[in-house]
Amino acid sequence: MENKYKVLSQQVFSNGDYSIVPIRMEDRYEIMKWRNEQMYHLRQNEPLIKEEQDNYFSNTISNLFEAETPNQILFSYTKENTCIGYGGLVHINWVDKNAELSFIMDTEIEGTSFEKHWCIFINLIEKVAFLDLKFNKIFTYAFDLRPHLYSVLVRNGFEEEARLKEHCLFDSIYRDVVIHAKYKNKIQFRVAEIDDLTVTYTWASSPIVREYALSKGIIPFEEHKNWFVNKIADNNAFFLIATIESTPIGLVRFDGLSHQQVTISYLLDPGYHGKGLGKQLLSRGLSKLYRERGNITVTGLVHINNIASRRIFEQLCFHQIHESEVLLRFTKQL
Ligand SMILES: CC(C)(COP(=O)(O)OP(=O)(O)OC[C@H]1O[C@@H](n2cnc3c(N)ncnc32)[C@H](O)[C@@H]1OP(=O)(O)O)[C@@H](O)C(=O)NCCC(=O)NCCS
Repeated sequence: MENKYKVLSQQVFSNGDYSIVPIRMEDRYEIMKWRNEQMYHLRQNEPLIKEEQDNYFSNTISNLFEAETPNQILFSYTKENTCIGYGGLVHINWVDKNAELSFIMDTEIEGTSFEKHWCIFINLIEKVAFLDLKFNKIFTYAFDLRPHLYSVLVRNGFEEEARLKEHCLFDSIYRDVVIHAKYKNKIQFRVAEIDDLTVTYTWASSPIVREYALSKGIIPFEEHKNWFVNKIADNNAFFLIATIESTPIGLVRFDGLSHQQVTISYLLDPGYHGKGLGKQLLSRGLSKLYRERGNITVTGLVHINNIASRRIFEQLCFHQIHESEVLLRFTKQL
């Protein structure tokens, strides 16, 4: 009989040929084998043996399915019904609605498809955490031994949230532990890429953006395309797309990084106006810039009638001077 988690309204989550299904007894020895092969990055000191694995599945795993508030929810990760990894939500905090994300894949596919399977697994487990369980936050807790994991997490909207210095002893060396987190309904950032061409054109063409833009008039698509392609390749620009649960909702861009005269551009998709997101977008975008570049002075030029943006700069403690009759200059040292 297939296992079912009482706490979940949906049991199987799929993405093409790949699925996560409540962890299956039949996969336990494969899982044990991968864990033993990958002990170097796991919180496991000794190789597991079959008897221990049997006990763990009979005594611990079997109790998770009927529990009202299980401390972990584990899945077999399958391709066309064959188990190729396992993972899930562990150290679940039902009060604060957060959990740690855990995942290991078949050691043989790690070398060739590490990033691909992490991406698919994250996409599936987010459905469990954010859609089914309505959690607020998921995070990873990783020994600083696999930096290639961090880029996958960041590309999937996680941000490095904390680093516990020299927190673990490995082969006589103290290693950091790095925590990456992702939140439900919170703005996340990723660097702009060519696939953002169309959405950025739609935003740039919207009447509210045109109304307060420094250059007025309709922008032809080809013109935007040339500008955009150059801009995402420009080392003097830090161009971020803001997303909520992977949906693009706006952008923030910092130009002129090389000459320390950094100007800010930012906008929200008109569908997301009036919810206080503009302030969060700019403030968190500035924090990201600070992390990249340290203390620099940033400037925003704002149309005098653009009350929402003026208010945001004021709330973020920018210093204001008149640039002209219609433009205000807001500056701040980060
Ligand atoms: C600027 C922008 C990102 C702000 O988006 P937003 O988050 O929806 O802004 P809000 O509507 O929440 O307004 C921000 C603040 O201004 C206040 N505000 C907005 N319009 C106002 C008005 N007409 N009178 C008084 N206050 C006003 C809001 O009440 C809010 O203040 P609060 O935080 O104290 O509640 C968005 O309007 C946008 O994308 N505009 C087009 C692009 C643009 O202008 N970019 C900035 C270029 S400098």
